[in-house]
Amino acid sequence: MEWKNEYSVGILEIDDQHKLLLRSFTTVEESIKLGEGWSNTHYAILELNQLARMHFTFEEAIMHMFGYPEAEAHKKEHQHFFIRMANIERHSLKKSAEVEMVQFLRGWLTSHILGSDRGYAEHIFAGAQVVRSNHDSLIHTD
Ligand SMILES: [Fe+2]
Ligand SMILES: [Fe+2]
Repeated sequence: MEWKNEYSVGILEIDDQHKLLLRSFTTVEESIKLGEGWSNTHYAILELNQLARMHFTFEEAIMHMFGYPEAEAHKKEHQHFFIRMANIERHSLKKSAEVEMVQFLRGWLTSHILGSDRGYAEHIFAGAQVVRSNHDSLIHTD
């Protein structure tokens, strides 16, 4: 699965992370297609999970930093990714589960990056400000 310019959310750092994620998706996909066996596929899945965890943490920090109102719903989508990955991996010895995984990965990638991720990027581009500290609460009165 190759990177296309239409996947861009307009934020360089996020696009770079998405490119890495895509490459990792592709490694999993190819491992399955080539029938590399459970251990190789399992390792590729572990890498993908790790990369996804770092990327999601980064995105969630940005969303909170810019006060994105849909942050919690977006976070749930990220959590759902790991739940699905775990379920699929549990059944990864079955050929049908592998096909299901490839379809899931592709579907998740396009709907999440092209939809949900674009949501917080547009929130930022619309002029969202960084959520500021409440200075009053920092003043010690005792
Ligand atoms: Fe996301
Ligand atoms: Fe993302």
